[in-house]
Amino acid sequence: MPSFTGRDIVSIRDLPRPDIDHILDTADVMEPLAKAGSEMLHGKIMATLFFEPSTRTRLSFESAMTRLGGTALGFAETKGTSVEKGENLADTVRVVENYADLLVVRHPLEGAARMAAEFSKMPVINAGSGAEEHPTQALLDLYTIRKELGAIDGLNIGLIGDLRFGRTVHSLAYALSQYKVKLFLISPEILKMRKEVFEEVSKHVTAKETASFHEHIRELDVVYMTRVQKERFADLAEYEKVKGSYRLTAEELTKAKKNAIVMHPLPRVDEVAADVDTTAHAKYFQQVQYGVVLRMALLALVLGAV
Ligand code: NCD
Repeated sequence: MPSFTGRDIVSIRDLPRPDIDHILDTADVMEPLAKAGSEMLHGKIMATLFFEPSTRTRLSFESAMTRLGGTALGFAETKGTSVEKGENLADTVRVVENYADLLVVRHPLEGAARMAAEFSKMPVINAGSGAEEHPTQALLDLYTIRKELGAIDGLNIGLIGDLRFGRTVHSLAYALSQYKVKLFLISPEILKMRKEVFEEVSKHVTAKETASFHEHIRELDVVYMTRVQKERFADLAEYEKVKGSYRLTAEELTKAKKNAIVMHPLPRVDEVAADVDTTAHAKYFQQVQYGVVLRMALLALVLGAV
């Protein structure tokens, strides 16, 4: 059984498949506790250091911690903190680790979570590092697939939209490459999957790069839609060219497999039409619920409670 106590969760690449499967199995154990509550993490404190906007990730970590009897503190923006006075990340981490047993960090810079982990004596969980990675989202995405479709092996999985700047699809592609899946990487040319991710992933699984969603929707078991990451474009004229590239509608979904699921890390802009919400394919709000359970598992594992 892999040990997680005190471990940093910075990159999904640090987690071999048995570790991932163990986290997903632990999430199954947590599921009833999400309703019933638990005192498993009583006395433990989680600090959330969010240097970038977030709704789901921060609130679901806080909810997960609270449901396990622990407490949460932190900041959701740098306004009002000493970061405004010029305090650097290393110092912020060295200070906040005195207030908590675990740090959850989101930062606009790639490598920031890794750096925080190096400076911190407490375990650090990466809640999004620039356009690079978002490992806990990938874990909850895998959990959603397993819960909704029974298994991950054997599936055709489409990642659609912004594969260049979208950190969730980077972590998810790395994770999925440890399973027996076929990946369809569907994006406009300028938003193609980051080269280093594509090269690594294609060593292990078949990964087809294409711009045509229409052509492949019939083949997919998982339709994973993403938002074009406007805030990460250096040139907004480039964004204008690709915004709205893909728009999934209920009408388009009539071509999909009967059991195909539609996922999205959220927030959505216009890539998933509202009429998809009432179809049986839509799982993105369910995904939010699985996110709490998965983060309960992670917190319990890293803090040594299970
Ligand atoms: C994502 C993120 O922050 O990378 N959101 C999330 O955590 N669920 C996706 C996005 O912002 O598009």
